[in-house]
Amino acid sequence: MTETILLDRPAERVARITLDRPRVLNALNLRTMQEITAATSELDGDPDVGAIILTGSAKAFAAGADIKEMAPQSFGDVHAADWLGGWEALSRVRTPLVAAVAGYALGGGCELAMMCDLLLAADTAKFGQPEITLGVLPGMGGSQRLTRAIGKAKAMDLILTGRTMDAEEAERAGLVSRIVPADALSEETVSTASKIASMSKPAVMLAKEAVHRAFETSLSEGLLFERRLFHSTFATHDQKEGMTAFIEKRPPEFRHR
Ligand code: HXC
Repeated sequence: MTETILLDRPAERVARITLDRPRVLNALNLRTMQEITAATSELDGDPDVGAIILTGSAKAFAAGADIKEMAPQSFGDVHAADWLGGWEALSRVRTPLVAAVAGYALGGGCELAMMCDLLLAADTAKFGQPEITLGVLPGMGGSQRLTRAIGKAKAMDLILTGRTMDAEEAERAGLVSRIVPADALSEETVSTASKIASMSKPAVMLAKEAVHRAFETSLSEGLLFERRLFHSTFATHDQKEGMTAFIEKRPPEFRHR
């Protein structure tokens, strides 16, 4: 039984996790971290799930880590518990994660959205890393993922001043995949997730892995990694089906294997 998130299946092969702590603008406490990582890991192992949506409310995707939970902790507490380290489980999820962000995505909220593979933003979205205003710094990947996504100049601006940026600026900077009108965010996200989920699951998982490898390796190693993954798809049913369907001018019937 979950307390801080809602789970549903808005379309075939699509699962959705909705943050549900409206009174605190979906602030992320330890329980939320445990529930999201447990849910994504379970959905990742479900052959009938081809994409996972992570979303919040119209006012807030998430306004950050829960400040009231963090405030009394000592260095010894957070260091011994490797506070926030549990979020790393999200990077082990091989099924595509699609973030749908409306309203505030601040601090840990922005970092959670950046852990996803696609980021769809409503025109109301506001992104920022305001940890500096609390006397700390990003702790869930903000200094690393934001810098890789938007470059040093803008990352320093956001992280050192704590200012927020709107959806337009975030898209121009390369943080956001697409902006949609707020009232179309849910529909557009489900349709994007459905599209991904309709593709061959092994091909999708390998493609996700290839893109992630670009952040971890040299170009020549990355190109070799990609080519070997590409070769490996020729061992799947879905490669034969996808190419045969093209030649026969019909839609493919992927088995997702
Ligand atoms: C705990 C939070 C919260 C948070 C909002 N609330 N953000 N509680 N942790 N991160 C609570 C408020 O205390 C308030 O509860 C209720 O949500 C509504 O918030 P308001 O401030 O009244 O709403 P509003 O005036 O609309 O302002 C919205 C806001 C503001 C601009 C988003 O709430 C805000 O600045 N929040 C903090 C944003 C932030 O600093 N995030 C980074 C957190 S640190 P009550 O009970 O008073 O009604 C972080 C670290 C990551 O994420 C890891 C590294 C350590």
